[in-house]
Amino acid sequence: MATREILQIGNPILRQRSHKITRFDDALSRLVEDMFDSMHEANGIGLAAPQIGISKRLIVVEMPDDKDHPHPGERWVMCNPEIVRASRETVVGQEGCLSVVGYVGMVERAEKVTIAAEDLRGREFRVKAEDYLARAFQHEIDHLNGVLYVEIAEEGSVITLEELEKQAQEEGNEIGAEEPTMLT
Ligand code: NI
Repeated sequence: MATREILQIGNPILRQRSHKITRFDDALSRLVEDMFDSMHEANGIGLAAPQIGISKRLIVVEMPDDKDHPHPGERWVMCNPEIVRASRETVVGQEGCLSVVGYVGMVERAEKVTIAAEDLRGREFRVKAEDYLARAFQHEIDHLNGVLYVEIAEEGSVITLEELEKQAQEEGNEIGAEEPTMLT
């Protein structure tokens, strides 16, 4: 197990457009293992390679292993992912990011997307996703283009976790009662 430091907002690598993957070798597979280890340690459900300082078009997503959750336990590795189709219908939902620790915000995303990507051996595949999983893919692909959710979040919606907790108490809700906050 090898975890790597997750870069935080302000680091210029997070603002770069990442490079296309052209070599599908053992080093790439090891990088993916490090990404899963780093993501698990940070309790995230997704991670993009630039978040650990590697400017390559590579993302991993792992849904919580929880039966109340859509796609429980599903694990995705995507090289060179592209959104090839996005629904006109959008949904606004809460997001957090392992590179913006301590904050959450509301982001409008396509409700459904189709992603074309390559696996670790360079074989192409397509995935249709909706709701929470579609949101995770869109958030991660943004990272590959140097975009952090705080830049596209609804105005004034980015708040600290303490503020979120306070709001939830005032409304008499438990945090994450509907959906866990996505940390990616
Ligand atoms: Ni993120």
